[in-house]
Amino acid sequence: GHGKGHAHGRLGFTPVGPNTKDALVVPEGYESAVVVRWGDPVLPDAPAFDFDNQTAEAQAKQFGYNCDFVSLFPLGRDRALLWVNHEYTDENLMFRGYTDGESATEEQIKIALAAHGGSIVELRRVGRSGRWELVTTGRRRYNRRITAETEMRFTGPAAGSDLLKTAADPTGRRVRGMLNNCAGGVTPWGTVLTCEENFNQYFVGGNGVPEANKPALNRYGVSTTQAVPSGNRRFDRVDERFDLSKHPNEINRFGWVVEIDPFDPDSVPVKHTALGRFAHEGATTTLAKDGRVVVYSGDDGRFEYIYKFVSKGRFRRGDDRHNRRLLEEGTLYVARFTGDSPKGEIDGSGRLPRDGAFDGHGEWIPLVSGDRSFVPGMSAAEVLVFTRLAADKVGATKMDRPEDIERNPVTGAVYAALTNNSNRTPAQADEANPRAYNKHGHVLEIVEQGNDAGATRFRWSVPLVCGDPADPSTYFAGYDKSKVSPISCPDNLAFDGDGNLWIATDGNALGSNDGLFAMPVSGPERGRVRQFLTVPRGAETCGPLITEDGLSVFVAVQHPGEISGATPDSPASRWPDGDQPRPSVAVVWHRRGKKIGS
Ligand code: FEO
Ligand code: CA
Ligand code: CA
Ligand code: CA
Repeated sequence: GHGKGHAHGRLGFTPVGPNTKDALVVPEGYESAVVVRWGDPVLPDAPAFDFDNQTAEAQAKQFGYNCDFVSLFPLGRDRALLWVNHEYTDENLMFRGYTDGESATEEQIKIALAAHGGSIVELRRVGRSGRWELVTTGRRRYNRRITAETEMRFTGPAAGSDLLKTAADPTGRRVRGMLNNCAGGVTPWGTVLTCEENFNQYFVGGNGVPEANKPALNRYGVSTTQAVPSGNRRFDRVDERFDLSKHPNEINRFGWVVEIDPFDPDSVPVKHTALGRFAHEGATTTLAKDGRVVVYSGDDGRFEYIYKFVSKGRFRRGDDRHNRRLLEEGTLYVARFTGDSPKGEIDGSGRLPRDGAFDGHGEWIPLVSGDRSFVPGMSAAEVLVFTRLAADKVGATKMDRPEDIERNPVTGAVYAALTNNSNRTPAQADEANPRAYNKHGHVLEIVEQGNDAGATRFRWSVPLVCGDPADPSTYFAGYDKSKVSPISCPDNLAFDGDGNLWIATDGNALGSNDGLFAMPVSGPERGRVRQFLTVPRGAETCGPLITEDGLSVFVAVQHPGEISGATPDSPASRWPDGDQPRPSVAVVWHRRGKKIGS
């Protein structure tokens, strides 16, 4: 580092090189430790993990599978609650001899249901270091498992609508469980937002729904020709609500942003319909200049959109009762990006246009505000439940798989990860998605008008087009490409306190392991991407979370060993214990107590 007071150049670590090691590799001077693994105790009466003797009852008390989003809620300086999403299950790695949902045992299916959702666990700091560990004794009064069976309720304009009613819930206001919770966010009033992403994969019977339901089901990625899509987990074998031919509306009850209070283990999680229904990657909150709450959310699919919700009411510090209703009413917008260079200069090659930048202006197009729809032919409830169909009608910009969105705490600029889109043709290239067959993804920077998150207009640019820096279609904000790390498939984003962007990757298409990278977004080192860590074989890097004191970075190591053909008898990873791979949250700190990135 270059000492205190310099926002730029503080990043001093020596980058980790690309590798395929079955290890969490960190820079010189840093150490790492596993904090919590799949199967570790969450509830005090959880039995010890036993890979060969799993039960659904045990799993519902233990840490779930495939950890993704993490957030930390301090309980003083040396204690904290850790929230973790459990996005999905890899049955072929969890159970010996597993082939498919058809032949799975009912207990295996129930274990999978219990391994989804999220966990809240208590942590304590080790000594005065940046290391944290799981608390495994004592009352642990906040510890909690949320699963695909946990009772939840709906709020907002679509709650109680016919589209959400089922035989089990004729009110359309209650729902069991959450599915495929990928990334998330934290509210200014100290609750977690956890986001349902690829919920489409859990249902069967799409061929047996009324004809009128089929267009929306198709638009949300559900087959309406097959009874059982290949690879389906067959949750319907233990709970018929997952069979659309019997319960066509059940799927409408997934795909939402869920709010959970980590400090109240008895609280009922809330699905907020005002934020729309799509494959929510995450939900990042910030405040508009006038105090309204703003939530940015990407819809992670090829050619899907970026959304923003702005609450009607304003945040009032300390007024919890008021604040907790802010996400129930507001305006949902979708983004349109307009480039400033001639269309002919954007040819899909990734070559910069003559003005030297992929950039332009944009606007947030309102879809619905409270009970009022702005989309012709759709009611407010229809816009919220079938948000993709609404956005299709208003000229929003089709993006290269919008993942995480984060706001820079120093500058106020907003960053979105576009992970990849191999299907975009050169003719479909536009200035905000400038590379055809985009294997490695890019990062978008949005500056709201007046730097006000509540604005409806913005400027934007593309500071990073990912890949091997030797590849001419890459762009590192003009920084010397001989001095940057190769990076591919940006997914989760975070900022440190100095305003450096941290980028976690999922699906590195360059052939080495996924990892975590840091990149200054202002000053002379803007665009200098450096790799901070790599995760074990077959894993993606999730989280990440840099603590407020800057001493620790938490990463979720999701699906270690998820490599085609791997099984428990022939694992592709033995991380972290030298045995079966276990998705885990790890913490990294500097050996001499320096700030992360030093
Ligand atoms: Fe679950 Fe969009 O990554
Ligand atoms: Ca331009
Ligand atoms: Ca993700
Ligand atoms: Ca991803």
